[in-house]
Amino acid sequence: MKESGHHPPRNIIQKIASLRDKLHEHNYRYYVLDQPVISDAAYDAMLKELERLEKQYPELVTPDSPTQRVGTAPLDSFNRIEHRVPMFSLSNTYDTREIIDFEQRMQKLIGDEQKITYVVEPKLDGLAVELVYERGIFVRGSTRGDGFAGEDITLNLKTIGSLPLRFRPRSESAPERVDIRGEVVMPRQELEALNRRRAEEGLPLFANPRNAAAGSLRQLDPRITARRRLDLFCYAVGYHEGVTFTSQWQLLSQLESWGFKVTENRYLADSGEEIIARCQQIENLRNQLPYDIDGTVIKVNSLALQQQLGEKSRSPRWAIAYKFKAQEETTKILDIIVQVGRTGALTPVAIMEPVRVGGVEISRATLHNFDDLHHKDIRIGDHVVVKRAGDVIPEVIAPITALRTGTEKPFPLPTRCPVCGAHVIREPEGIIYRCTAGLSCPAQLTGSIFHFGSKRAMDIDGLGMKLVEQLVGKGIIKDIADLYNLDAETLAGLERFGEKSARNLLEAIEASKHRPLNRFIYGLGIRHVGEHLARVVVQHCPDLLISGPPDPDTLMNIPEIGPQVAQSIYEFFREKKNLSVIRKLLDYGVDPQPPETAEKSQPLAGKRLVITGTLSQPRNLVKDRLEKAGARVSGTVSPQTDYLLAGKNPGSKLERARNLNVNVISETELEILLNPSSSGSETQPLLPLLEQQPETEKSHEQ
Ligand code: IVH
Repeated sequence: MKESGHHPPRNIIQKIASLRDKLHEHNYRYYVLDQPVISDAAYDAMLKELERLEKQYPELVTPDSPTQRVGTAPLDSFNRIEHRVPMFSLSNTYDTREIIDFEQRMQKLIGDEQKITYVVEPKLDGLAVELVYERGIFVRGSTRGDGFAGEDITLNLKTIGSLPLRFRPRSESAPERVDIRGEVVMPRQELEALNRRRAEEGLPLFANPRNAAAGSLRQLDPRITARRRLDLFCYAVGYHEGVTFTSQWQLLSQLESWGFKVTENRYLADSGEEIIARCQQIENLRNQLPYDIDGTVIKVNSLALQQQLGEKSRSPRWAIAYKFKAQEETTKILDIIVQVGRTGALTPVAIMEPVRVGGVEISRATLHNFDDLHHKDIRIGDHVVVKRAGDVIPEVIAPITALRTGTEKPFPLPTRCPVCGAHVIREPEGIIYRCTAGLSCPAQLTGSIFHFGSKRAMDIDGLGMKLVEQLVGKGIIKDIADLYNLDAETLAGLERFGEKSARNLLEAIEASKHRPLNRFIYGLGIRHVGEHLARVVVQHCPDLLISGPPDPDTLMNIPEIGPQVAQSIYEFFREKKNLSVIRKLLDYGVDPQPPETAEKSQPLAGKRLVITGTLSQPRNLVKDRLEKAGARVSGTVSPQTDYLLAGKNPGSKLERARNLNVNVISETELEILLNPSSSGSETQPLLPLLEQQPETEKSHEQ
């Protein structure tokens, strides 16, 4: 911190303090309680104002200011941080009988006259971290490492919205120091979105949320971590002074009232049977939770008894992990095929005898890449173990080599593209094999055209993969611009394509001429430029279609754009073929409109809505508006639903929403959500207008 030589005026100090208080509170409501009361736009406006004041008075910046969440420059390496109290691991069991053994063992060690109570919690499948709070302020955080010392990942941790930068309520009574432990997880939905972006950008996919969470936290560049929406649940403390805890249950409540996210699905149990029943209850929730759990943790509740029981061989005697059986099955690989994506990346895919895993039948599974395939030595004809975790893509774990007969065939590394026969190269830095033919490879051309018309790009309704394959196969279109030269007569000649569908498609193509520029750029399929970066680029270069993009150095001055992306954009716009396609598009009347604003200012970004009953406008229209506002509209109410929009004569969804404590809103309330500014001052809470949720253990109003 640098001294500016003059004292900042008192009103500025007060203004900064008040902005911080408000931002901390709204952050807590958004990330921890999942009940925001102001719009994202209002939040951003306050944050901007605080940033402005802090820029003016840098001596007033504190490490717990909400402006400090977005990391700055990348680090060269992580420092080591020692845990004052070592972070132990847990002994595992897969067998409920061992839970009874555990309970009897505890009783024996403590003596029959003492009644022992247990806490049963979900075992989160993420990365364990320790967070040091001094006088209620987050000062540093680290990974578990070897249990005695881990890596300093403070900057990355600060980007996690549900990590409190300071305890709430703000008070002088915060303890001198508490080391809080928890698990950083990536919600499955977030993993899917991340993998979708990575697939688009030709990067290897993460196999499961745990790997993705670990990979994200160990990023040297906190700006990358910030884009991976991670979540944090706390469940234990290490070293502490100035505060005492009496039981695990009380500890969890204390963490919760300090503003940490703590699992809602925690239970007290007094007997072995009750513990098992609670474990089964948690297991039944497994597929409904937004993040992965791989078991339960059973802990002796009283901390005095915990201390009495102590540790053995680096795990506590007073706790045990009950692990769920993995959602795994065995089946046989009938064939391995190679898919060619729009960037030319080759992906091996296993075709298997159909098998049910975790309630879903699967017959195909990705083998990720050829390195993985050869590393695991998976062969055609092998019996294999397949796994499916929640919504994640099925995965082949390993061959069962004991069942080999000698007739299994290893799959050779590709040297030619299976679609066009062109040379395949292995990317120097990576594990990706790529067809070198570019858009003269029909698979890449088909993929690129399909991508251009996809929902998130130019949104050409009706332009499905099968249709694009026909158009390309028959030589009707040779590049994306040819889409705009299609006519009813040509389309009528296609298989299973009626007059009506032809008309609809032509209308959809016509409508796509006026999509926002960011979607157009995203649709071009420039390597490494996904949806988000396309927005960033057009925000900084709004006239790049006319003047071409600036050189790589200028591009690299744009936040989030690194050398690889800059080079890729530069090269794309230097390529004559690409320029002539763009020229052709503009000649056909494609006229990209001013870019869409960033996701965050969409009032319903990421929210899930369900509609029931009769609305005052056609449902499709309402659905459209909701989607434009960033919401996802689905047909069934689930615990993940954010709002149920109820019109006249609502159906059974209303009852289900009430049972699940889902917010129910009317059309008028929807208008307020969509236009937060019209609801009056920015701090006016929306919640009173919405149907209040019943008080649960979760909410801690003061
Ligand atoms: S308590 C000494 N509670 O499991 C016990 N751990 O194998 C300290 N974990 O490293 C851990 N959910 O990463 C505890 N509710 C929970 C947990 C949990 C996940 C992980 C944690 C720990 C590992 C122990």
